[in-house]
Amino acid sequence: MAKKLFIKTYGCQMNVYDSARMADVLAPLGYARTETPDDADMVVINTCHIREKAAEKVFSELGHWRQRKTAARAAGGDVTIAVAGCVAQAEGEEIIARAPFVDLVVGPQAYHRLPELLAQAERARAKRNGRSQAGAGVMDTDFPVESKFDHLPEQSAEAPGAVGFLAVQEGCDKFCTFCVVPYTRGAEYSRPAEAIFAEARRLIEGGVQEIALLGQNVNAWHGEGPDGRTWSLGRLLRELHDRFQPQHPRLRWRYTTSHPREMDDDLIVAHGELPGLMPFLHLPVQSGSDAVLRAMNRGHGAAEYLDIIARLRAARPDIAFSSDFITGFPGETEKDFEATLELVRKVGFASAYSFKYSARPGTPGSLLPNRVPDAVSAERLQRLQALLLEQATAFNQACIGRELDVIFDRPGKFAGQMIGRSPYMQPVVVSDARLGMGDRASVTITAATATSLSGTVAAAGCGDSLEAA
Ligand code: SAH
Ligand code: SF4
Ligand code: F3S
Repeated sequence: MAKKLFIKTYGCQMNVYDSARMADVLAPLGYARTETPDDADMVVINTCHIREKAAEKVFSELGHWRQRKTAARAAGGDVTIAVAGCVAQAEGEEIIARAPFVDLVVGPQAYHRLPELLAQAERARAKRNGRSQAGAGVMDTDFPVESKFDHLPEQSAEAPGAVGFLAVQEGCDKFCTFCVVPYTRGAEYSRPAEAIFAEARRLIEGGVQEIALLGQNVNAWHGEGPDGRTWSLGRLLRELHDRFQPQHPRLRWRYTTSHPREMDDDLIVAHGELPGLMPFLHLPVQSGSDAVLRAMNRGHGAAEYLDIIARLRAARPDIAFSSDFITGFPGETEKDFEATLELVRKVGFASAYSFKYSARPGTPGSLLPNRVPDAVSAERLQRLQALLLEQATAFNQACIGRELDVIFDRPGKFAGQMIGRSPYMQPVVVSDARLGMGDRASVTITAATATSLSGTVAAAGCGDSLEAA
């Protein structure tokens, strides 16, 4: 009988992608993914270490699974508990010590070794049968010489949805002084183009209508091209377009997350050339102050960021932007913060994520003097979010009356309601009994909030599939 695998995913889209890959690795061992935690034989908690709050969730989640395991054992069964992701990488030893009921800890670069680890965990469990569990968990957080991508199964265990993720790059060499990612994910690695083409083909043949190329630093991708030379992301996108767009003219492409330092001309120009590349870019800036950007080691100033935005707008006039911001980085003065507000006013963002600075252990930022009091960071965050909210509302309201191409990928709250994504990543809510998962329609937008749109299907598009186009 199939064993049931429940994966709880925190953090970024890369973790969502990795969770699917872990399910692929475990499928040959008889594990099938379930969405209901209650009947799971194994749980994988795929964790995020980016901010303090994200990391804290792991131990509260583990407390819950400890109870589940105890109950299962009392009934003569068991639940295998695995911790994966960036907290596993950063705090693996601590997890093993603090949570001895955890069977295995696996870092983001070792997922292909899950079957081996599971076997080790089972041996350890057999040995300690009836005795104390203390420290019995097994752990693998090595950065292997070879990439995990070379060892993960080619065929996915799960049928892809309407919107697919494709990891093209992993890791980061940028070492922004606030960030844990270079430590949890390791050095930048780019998958070769051929592997990306093959995975894209599988996704498209499986019915995917939009592909997001993923990487912690996706535009730093510099993989090997089919000609044996090093290619850029712009070139990769052109080639993907050339290969797949002729048969699938309505296929949508995105890439995330990008670093301003790697927005080269080739990539910027691609936005004007490739109709399938969506007119939306998430380009984190963090701050609008040159002094803060320098202290963050971002490698560019505010003027350069604005210049990139201007060049992208010249290449693709309807492009919209989102970004990430941090308030209260050590040394940030009121004047620095005002420079951030100024940058936001100059760009006009369609959406954004913003956070209070969280000092992360082991990062250079955590050692900096001139810490900003929490109340000040919080107050600045509030002011920033008010401005960003205003901009997002204005952007969304300007969509009222327009017809947007929407791919529906999740059910809404009410019966007959579906939620999809517009080209600008806005969630679009439509109540129409004819709509199902994976459908695509042209939607006339009738209402907007700061975070979503709603509308009605423009008759011709309903139930439209990519192949029919
Ligand atoms: N690779 C991306 C972002 C990775 S993390 C980039 O280069 O921009 C996602 C976002 O989390 C970051 O853009 C940043 O805004 C935020 N973040 C990262 N570390 C943080 C910290 N220590 N405190 C607060 N926010 C942080
Ligand atoms: Fe973190 Fe900076 Fe790398 Fe982004 S570029 S993952 S923020 S170190
Ligand atoms: Fe979090 Fe790791 Fe992603 S820290 S944001 S899960 S790379």
